[in-house]
Amino acid sequence: MTDSAAPIDATSTSAWAELTAHKAGIAPDLRAWFADDPGRAERLSLPLADLHVDLSKNLVTDGILASLVRLAEQTGVAERFDAMLSGVHINTTEDRAVLHTALRRPDGASPALIVDGQHVDDDVHEVLRRVAEFADRVRSGAWTGVTGKRVTHVVNIGIGGSDLGPVMVYEALKPYADAGIEARFISNIDPTDLAQKTADLDPETTLFIVASKTFTTLETLTNARLARDWLWASLGNAGVDVASDEAKKDAVAHHFIAVSTALDKVAAFGIDPANAFGFWDWVGGRYSVDSSIGTSLAIALGPDAFGQLLAGFHAVDEHVRTTPLERNVPVLMGLLNVWYNNFLGAQSHAVLPYAQQLHRFPAYLQQLTMESNGKSVRWDGSPVTTETGEVFWGEPGTNGQHAFYQLIHQGTRLIPADFIAFANPAYPLADDGRDVHGLFLANFLAQTKALAFGKTAAEVEAEGTTGPLVAARTFPGNRPTTSIFADALTPAVLGQLIALYEHITFTQGVIWGINSFDQWGVELGKQLALQIAPAIEGDEDAAAAQDPSTRALLAYYHAHRR
Ligand code: F6P
Repeated sequence: MTDSAAPIDATSTSAWAELTAHKAGIAPDLRAWFADDPGRAERLSLPLADLHVDLSKNLVTDGILASLVRLAEQTGVAERFDAMLSGVHINTTEDRAVLHTALRRPDGASPALIVDGQHVDDDVHEVLRRVAEFADRVRSGAWTGVTGKRVTHVVNIGIGGSDLGPVMVYEALKPYADAGIEARFISNIDPTDLAQKTADLDPETTLFIVASKTFTTLETLTNARLARDWLWASLGNAGVDVASDEAKKDAVAHHFIAVSTALDKVAAFGIDPANAFGFWDWVGGRYSVDSSIGTSLAIALGPDAFGQLLAGFHAVDEHVRTTPLERNVPVLMGLLNVWYNNFLGAQSHAVLPYAQQLHRFPAYLQQLTMESNGKSVRWDGSPVTTETGEVFWGEPGTNGQHAFYQLIHQGTRLIPADFIAFANPAYPLADDGRDVHGLFLANFLAQTKALAFGKTAAEVEAEGTTGPLVAARTFPGNRPTTSIFADALTPAVLGQLIALYEHITFTQGVIWGINSFDQWGVELGKQLALQIAPAIEGDEDAAAAQDPSTRALLAYYHAHRR
């Protein structure tokens, strides 16, 4: 189904005019807003599957929220969600459907999803079953390396969406790794990455997964070849006979599998197609962790945990599909981001998990949000009419508190922040009888409170401070935060968190008129790297064809390379 809808210019809607007026009249005062409105916290705290989402410390009144919801109505957010979920080709520049939500529909969902003649549900569940069966064989030891030893390490080789999702989920759910199999992730073409991550591995017990949607990505294919060389060399060093082509092929068949939409290219690499797991062009790389790209997770964490992760995604998809806009959490959070970006001048957004296990979550979100919405043209090719794509960044608390929180508390820039926390820890430890997780959570609560309510000069003076120190110790407050709280970091809860941010990103993209599912902006650098590579290797004509700065940098390289 082609997409015939033109983007609606948000800036020409009456809701935009209302928001412009709100902006002119607003003097955010969270202290007064809470004092005058005892129901604010309760009214603005919403359930989202297993998540408790507290929006009350954002810089919005009920009137602003109502205008934001009208903005969603007038730009057709609900209709765009429907178009996405039903398989309309909303990825207009690639003429593709966008169906990551289909990857987590339950088996046998009714009515069945049939798109462009494909029975999507059947295909998704067939691959899921194959991945689960394979994962079980590896976990049980039925699948072995070429010398008959069971797998102890699975190494995912991929980059971007073929890396960030799996590594983030693995780190988040490591306590669920129950089969004695460790996962590692190699992404960077910097050879350091592969060298360090293979240094202590036993080739006889290592399984590589080459994960690439296109199976053309320079970094991934280079690393896959390096890994194959490493396998042959280190098996040879361990006394395994890999001299003949046949023996080499056999080693690859036992130690390499692949995940890709390009199964012909997988076969050309030498990986047995029986050990390759497919997905489809309607899954964007940054939306693919819930496809067979998650095979490393199904192996290390188990198919059950992977299934619970998918169920978590689906719960949020259902929320988005069925909940009115004014209580639709991903839509509201996307609208708040639009409010901060387009009306209050914010240029970035911090994501601050109070969970060490989520230490790769901000990096994951950077690709999800910035590769999706870092665009200057709309889905019909016309220029955007307002700012788009804020910078997402963050680090887990409490580490960030001792690094960059100073700027969020007292700097001159507005930085909306999402705090994510869990009532129960993965590792309940006590310090001299005191629950350390409780202390950790006290920091989460303290930070959001300090950001919202600050500390006045009078309060500082009441503590005995005088002179210029009073100003330095004053906190302005009114720094907006959203608190996302859950019982524990389970696979289902993690799936909910990821889907939440997918749909926040989509909401913003719709309001800005953006196709959030292409990424042409990464192409030019890839092309130029291929052109410059010969110059690095000493081709003087290729060097001479470069601009003066690049020529000078190449000259520096050649002068210093040993
Ligand atoms: O360079 C951008 C990108 O295309 C991402 O969108 C994608 O996730 C990544 O490269 C890896 O691509 P592939 O999975 O095809 O190797």
